[in-house]
Amino acid sequence: MTAIDPARHGGSVYRFVFWAFFSRLTPERAHSLAAFVIRCAGLPGVRNVVRILCKPPRESHVVALGLVFDSPFGLAAGFDKNAQMAIGLGAFGFGHVEVGTVTAHAQPGNPRPRLFRLIPDRALINRMGFNNDGAEVIARRLEKLRHIKKRPIIGVNIGKSRVVDVEDAESDYVTSTRLLAPVADYLVVNVSSPNTPGLRGLQELDSLEPLLGAVAHEAGSVPLLVKIAPDLDDVQVDEIARLCVRLKLSGIIATNTTVSREHLVTPSNIVDACGPGGLSGPPVAQRSHEVLRRIRSIVPPEFCVISVGGIETADDVRARIRDGATLVQGYTGYIYQGPWWARNINRGLQSHPEKGSSSTR
Ligand SMILES: Cc1cc2nc3c(=O)[nH]c(=O)nc-3n(C[C@H](O)[C@H](O)[C@H](O)COP(=O)(O)O)c2cc1C
Repeated sequence: MTAIDPARHGGSVYRFVFWAFFSRLTPERAHSLAAFVIRCAGLPGVRNVVRILCKPPRESHVVALGLVFDSPFGLAAGFDKNAQMAIGLGAFGFGHVEVGTVTAHAQPGNPRPRLFRLIPDRALINRMGFNNDGAEVIARRLEKLRHIKKRPIIGVNIGKSRVVDVEDAESDYVTSTRLLAPVADYLVVNVSSPNTPGLRGLQELDSLEPLLGAVAHEAGSVPLLVKIAPDLDDVQVDEIARLCVRLKLSGIIATNTTVSREHLVTPSNIVDACGPGGLSGPPVAQRSHEVLRRIRSIVPPEFCVISVGGIETADDVRARIRDGATLVQGYTGYIYQGPWWARNINRGLQSHPEKGSSSTR
């Protein structure tokens, strides 16, 4: 380790930068600044330097969905909504980046403010509402990334366009699938965001079965997963797990943000002032972990389960893998832990490799 080793010194530097600078900006302004830095890290030349600092060790490789992931740890959907940061994020050590949520129609999302920090909980509340450039534009961007060597695995998460009625959701998802499946390493049907009216109703089996069937048909051989909410009850989780196995889907991503406001230490007047939206970070960890265990107890070993919700450390990742996760994702931790987060997790997993890496599913 050298005197400028980011894993040793980056955490405290970032904590200072967060308190002194980022926390004074609106969360969306801070996100735009971070996005600029990450895009710079993805430029040829810069990318190689960042990669050398953050490359996951060989023992971290995981085979899943018929693909080789450099690390079991990836970035969850919502951070890179428009497929503009994936290469930089891969250089920083994420084994995969889930782009999106992408909708068939470009849309601005909900009015601002729509993203809030709950700093005492290291949590976020968001009601972004799938702001994105639309499937056609994003498909063109992704097409260009496919030829880049040493890129992370890039999944694409799709959702329902706001202008489309819930009754017509199927054709809307199929349109996105037709445009995006050819440029995705894997595809995710998102039916679990709390910020698009009626979307989570698509998790009801009567709606979900035909929806997944139609998307699977259009996706062809591209691995297809579904992303579910932590607010489903246990019976619903079990039913969806069985349905996915019956439909021969490749996997489930559990979980999205929660509409619950439990397990918070932030004063309730501050939480209430944020208004509606999905809560993420440590407060969702316990339920996310429970949902993982339920799903794994139902699905066969080769079925991919991606666990997401409240991950902060390598120990958290290791615990999810031990309880059946094939891969693990995080989002909110990145805001609070800073740029070396994925690298630190990969290094942490390496220190106890027998418990956390080199798996095949
Ligand atoms: C600001 C923000 C935006 C998000 N946008 C999306 C999204 O577009 N699609 C999606 O499937 N999940 C989205 N998520 C949910 C995350 O992918 C993840 O499932 C959730 O935040 C739990 O993980 P975490 O506790 O590590 O953040 C978003 C989360 C946040 C904080």
